Amino acid sequence: MPNTLKGRDIISIAELSKPEILLVLKNAQELKKHPRPKLLEGLVMGSCFFEPSTRTRLSFETAMQKLGGRVIGFADPGVTSAKKGESLYDAIKIIGQYVDVIAMRHPLEGAARRAAEATDKPIINGGDGANQHPTQTLLDLFTIQECQKKLSNLHIAMVGDLKYGRTVHSLAQALTHFGARLYFVAPDSLQMPAYICDELKTKGVKFSMHKKMEEVIGKVDIFYMTRIQGERFADPMEYEKVKNSFVLKADMLKNAKPNLKILHPLPRVNEIETAIDKTKFAYYFQQAENGLYARQALLAMVLGKI
Ligand code: CP
Repeated sequence: MPNTLKGRDIISIAELSKPEILLVLKNAQELKKHPRPKLLEGLVMGSCFFEPSTRTRLSFETAMQKLGGRVIGFADPGVTSAKKGESLYDAIKIIGQYVDVIAMRHPLEGAARRAAEATDKPIINGGDGANQHPTQTLLDLFTIQECQKKLSNLHIAMVGDLKYGRTVHSLAQALTHFGARLYFVAPDSLQMPAYICDELKTKGVKFSMHKKMEEVIGKVDIFYMTRIQGERFADPMEYEKVKNSFVLKADMLKNAKPNLKILHPLPRVNEIETAIDKTKFAYYFQQAENGLYARQALLAMVLGKI
């Protein structure tokens, strides 16, 4: 299949077709096995992070540098002219004149789409508020394929903050291509948004809602844990009520399927007990590493070098 991502903005996972997703995963696999330190020589990535990040920003920047490219940017908008009142549109228009591709994160939903209107250079959304996190989904799919040796017809639980969790919104949409059976485990107030559920119904994806992890843990191949996102609650008291709703403990894995793998986009607060880290079920640190290869593949593809 030809690379149809050249020059494209990557704003929502829903805008990538199944063959496009599979091609990113194939290229990520190749890059994991065979590093290409000169592939992006002479090219520059703008790394524009208006919201905190460890994995997404650092793996994007490392991905670019390990492919021979260079990086400019910021991890704190407080050191940019946003502090003086410059609009996102103006900032991205200017940065787009300096670089070949922009990876960005912003606390507002729709910010990446707005940024894409400001420049002809490809914008890659590294998370916009509670909306989308498409590159997380690419690394999640890559990781699922790696640890389960397949992507199709898996039983997958998504647990925790499904309302504000952009990673689970993007992942649920992507899984519509792969015949997954989905289990959503969350307090009522943090369940999967209706617009995602409606899309799943339209596409014939089977899913069910649950309040307890124990209801699903023995049934699934992937247990995708998420953090309750305190920073997105308008009322801190509401966060206090739900913040400890789900804490996965090692003794809860007694009836797990032998092939179960626990994923988490990270950062973790307390929702996975650290005793689980050394069990055969934990795969979240490998998942975070895979962000490097998925982002290398995507950068090389939007820059037209694969
Ligand atoms: N998974 C993820 O987006 O992590 P960071 O917030 O550290 O980038």
